[in-house]
Amino acid sequence: MNSLLSIENISKGFSSAGRRISALDNVSLTIAAGETLGLVGASGSGKSTLSRILLRLLSSDAGSIRFDGEDWLRLKGAALRAKRARMQMVFQDPLAAFNPLASVGSVLDDPLRIHGVVAKDRRADEIVTLLERVGLTADHAARPVRALSGGQRQRVAIARAIATRPSLLVLDEAVTALDVTVRGRILELLVDLQKREGIACLFISHDLAVVHAVSHRIAVMDAGRIVESGPAAAVVAAPRSEAARALVAAVPRLVTEPS
Ligand SMILES: Nc1ncnc2c1ncn2[C@@H]1O[C@H](COP(=O)(O)OP(=O)(O)OP(=O)(O)O)[C@@H](O)[C@H]1O
Ligand SMILES: [Mg+2]
Repeated sequence: MNSLLSIENISKGFSSAGRRISALDNVSLTIAAGETLGLVGASGSGKSTLSRILLRLLSSDAGSIRFDGEDWLRLKGAALRAKRARMQMVFQDPLAAFNPLASVGSVLDDPLRIHGVVAKDRRADEIVTLLERVGLTADHAARPVRALSGGQRQRVAIARAIATRPSLLVLDEAVTALDVTVRGRILELLVDLQKREGIACLFISHDLAVVHAVSHRIAVMDAGRIVESGPAAAVVAAPRSEAARALVAAVPRLVTEPS
């Protein structure tokens, strides 16, 4: 299969207070170009551990990952730096990811400069284009990140993530901290970006309703394993695993709503 991302048999254990925890146990999944895979599971099921391994922030104990035709976990140095532009992250808390005193424009200028996305004299225009792509305007460039609302900050985080023209976005609880209305708008933006620009996403959340709103397929994690995966509508309408049933039950309106 010609996948953009192929995660194969990734395992990871932690030692904590003299006990060994298996955070990931033979996790495999694939994402095609332009596809959104929702990864859902209860707290502690291993979702963030997988995203940190994928982003090379944490090493795995076993397994391999192919990304964009490369043996991803073995890439080093300049080859890794070049490929990193193709896989970008959106965090739950954008303030933790930015210098809060920095202006929106400088937050967006960093990846453009570092990865040489456009010529120097084109960067200011590119910043405006990025702001418009996420539903903000040129006026936002001069504002400090700190002065933005939570939803606006998350739009800036998404703009920064797409600045390097990635083929995959990894979003770990990216809308969890937002209130319901703002969350809905950010989810709409993500679906829109995916339709217009064909960026693939690994969309991680403990909230099945949120995952269902944006995903083509859903994979369900429980205690470090993928226990179920399939088309989003099928997983929500007819969950097969205990873990998926529990997540569906936690979202009563999904049970009655036609999908
Ligand atoms: N650095 C670490 N040291 C020890 N244990 C860890 C470490 N990181 C994660 N774990 C453990 O690994 C398991 C999986 O954690 P992880 O953060 O991946 O879960 P999660 O699915 O992202 O949960 P949440 O929905 O709360 O974000 C948990 O039992 C967690 O306590
Ligand atoms: Mg997590």
